[in-house]
Amino acid sequence: MVEKNLTVVNHPLIQHKLTLIRKKETSSSEFRRLLREISMLLAYEITRDLPLGKKSIETPLMPMESPSLLGKKLALVSILRAGNGLLEGVLELIPSARVGYIGLYRNEETLKPVEYYFKVPLDIEARLVILLDPMLATGHSAAAAVSRLKEEGAKNIRFVCLLAAPEGVEIMRDTHPDVQVITAALDTRLNELGYILPGLGDAGDRLYGTT
Ligand code: URA
Repeated sequence: MVEKNLTVVNHPLIQHKLTLIRKKETSSSEFRRLLREISMLLAYEITRDLPLGKKSIETPLMPMESPSLLGKKLALVSILRAGNGLLEGVLELIPSARVGYIGLYRNEETLKPVEYYFKVPLDIEARLVILLDPMLATGHSAAAAVSRLKEEGAKNIRFVCLLAAPEGVEIMRDTHPDVQVITAALDTRLNELGYILPGLGDAGDRLYGTT
């Protein structure tokens, strides 16, 4: 399903693995493995329109002009810490990508995201930036991370998550209408604590076995 700023990738393999990853009995090691696999499948979708040029090569039999990716290498930017669960699989599929990290925490008084770490690849303005966080919940961290990347010069940003809540999609649409959100599922709503329903719980805790 593709809407204005939202793409839901409903590939059967992704949907099947998503059911497994949502289950409360799924262990951390299974969760990590499934997230890696789903992120590889999502990466296939994210990169389907990358520009291709031709490169002169020689096969053992003859020279040929063969398709090759054009332009600067992608920048993958993980929102710490759960973003790292998505990063691993995407990086496996696009090993030459550059990698950045954004650390944000929520100020409990203002409820606004506060940055505690920011390191992104050079020439970010010339790269396609894939921003990664498994859960698009309220959308505040995602929107803040996009704003920060734009401050740094990024012009072409896609946001990739595993699950999105309608509330988060709306915030992204309102604050960053130029950023396509790519997700494996659009869930129903947020609960009063900001968790996605039906969701999968706390992605970071499930990835790393913390509580
Ligand atoms: N972050 C999570 O890890 N899970 C949610 O449901 C919402 C935000």
